[in-house]
Amino acid sequence: MLQPNRFPEFDGHALVVPIADKKSGLRGFIAIHRDGGTSLGATRLWRYDSETDALRDALRLSRLMSYKSAVAGLNYGGAKAALMLPPGGIKDRKLFFETYASFVDSLNGQFVTGTDVGVTDEDVRVMRRKTPFVIGSKVDPAYYTAVGIVGGIEVALQHVFGSPSIKGRSFAIQGIGKVGGNVVAMLYREAQKIYVADTDTAKVSALKKKFPRIIAVPSSLILEQSVDVVVPCALSGALNRRSITKLKCRIVAGSANNQLARDHRKPDVGTLLHRRGILYAPDYVVNVGGFVSVVDEFVHGKPAKQRILKKIGNMKKALTAIFDASAEMNEAPDAVADRIAESLMEKSAVRRTAAI
Ligand code: NAI
Repeated sequence: MLQPNRFPEFDGHALVVPIADKKSGLRGFIAIHRDGGTSLGATRLWRYDSETDALRDALRLSRLMSYKSAVAGLNYGGAKAALMLPPGGIKDRKLFFETYASFVDSLNGQFVTGTDVGVTDEDVRVMRRKTPFVIGSKVDPAYYTAVGIVGGIEVALQHVFGSPSIKGRSFAIQGIGKVGGNVVAMLYREAQKIYVADTDTAKVSALKKKFPRIIAVPSSLILEQSVDVVVPCALSGALNRRSITKLKCRIVAGSANNQLARDHRKPDVGTLLHRRGILYAPDYVVNVGGFVSVVDEFVHGKPAKQRILKKIGNMKKALTAIFDASAEMNEAPDAVADRIAESLMEKSAVRRTAAI
């Protein structure tokens, strides 16, 4: 039995629930970082090498959700589920998600979830028939996440070049899935150049048909393109001590959660980026659009575009303040954002309960 509190990612989490069911092949963890009565966080289905990897991902991502929620002014606890893709694939996908939904349901609304990498809209519909504690069936979170990413890019361009205009700027987008694909669509008309890479080459071919001017490059080379903005929209840890030495950009702003690899050495990756003069838009600040949209659905039943866009506009103001403070104090923007989030969490009523 794994002990969550033995891992460096453990941060006084309120609750960690192991999930296992032989018949469906379901295995994974639900992690609740802060228990606010209702804790929100999506469900990821991934080919984890071990239970330890899945648990550590759930711990890391649920913590990030608390920070995201705090900076967005949404007083929910952060949570996340990490499900392990069975080695031979899922035999009965409907059964797999129905079984998972019953675990979610057993938490009686303490955990409310939606889609992340590997979970489809159809999976959400299957779950929705088993539990009310699944959201995101009435909005397209990836679209709103992309709206926020483009907004964050504009704020960063303003900070670095004195103008938020996309016109004439160049971009390298790592991962053209649900979010990255939408970002390409939003930048395409005005951008001077857009390089893209995805390990799934079929996605690249399909996108190239829609947007013929995009330039496909191998995944191993996407981060080192000479561009204004690198946009990581794939998986965690894209920016590490080695990969950042290859960057030839002024700005990094993308949707992937936990973009900065954490290795507990000093100076950390965020500080190294800052020292290199590369402006990093903190992931959980700029990728809040999807979260805002599902919270709008959760609170109001029927999501409203104008309400969601207004909150994304608030994020742009928060990001401007983070960049200004970073410049003033000569401190990495991710460190500034963490401090703001921690002080907001300190003040908020969301509880931390005993860890299991
Ligand atoms: P997705 O699964 O639709 O797209 C990810 C894409 O990245 C896939 O096409 C995959 O083939 C590609 N990929 C994986 N490794 C790669 C690599 N090394 N190089 C290039 N491409 C690679 O996922 P989605 O929804 O677009 O999310 C992207 C990232 O944004 C994830 O980290 C997710 O956690 C984060 N995010 C997504 C939100 C959403 O609303 N969908 C909200 C907030 C964060």
